[in-house]
Amino acid sequence: MKKAQTMDKKVKDIIKKYYGDKTAMIAILQDVQEEFRYLPKETLSFISKKMDVPLTRIYEIATFYNAFSLKPRGKHTIEVCLGTACHVQGASRLIDRLERDLSISSGDTTKDKMFTLEEVRCLGCCSLAPVIRISGNVHPYLTQDELPKILRNYK
Ligand code: FES
Repeated sequence: MKKAQTMDKKVKDIIKKYYGDKTAMIAILQDVQEEFRYLPKETLSFISKKMDVPLTRIYEIATFYNAFSLKPRGKHTIEVCLGTACHVQGASRLIDRLERDLSISSGDTTKDKMFTLEEVRCLGCCSLAPVIRISGNVHPYLTQDELPKILRNYK
């Protein structure tokens, strides 16, 4: 089966799960994002046609919520805290090192789709600064020399 057909089939199943209910659009987009790790353009067009919802309406929802991404995302999201406490403890060195080691800029995803790198403002655990969070796991008191080993554990 071709990739596009597989994608369509998966999206059809998601729409079916919600009985094609237009009021369930957020839940449908959440499921699509969980399936593909982002909202592919062609998928949004497909949903628009199948559910008879204007594409502009779907984009309004997709761009309103931070949880949705229109760009491909990695298997793991690395969130580097650049809040005040982490900044004071050298968080900018961590982001520099990650950008260098992963060959991407903040906000981008590695070519192998393994990691997406993001900057955040306070992860709510300032006493552990500097902190990064990878796929929900907090890594406290980090130094840049520890990063390669940590990343290896996620591959
Ligand atoms: S500033 Fe980094 S966790 Fe609060």
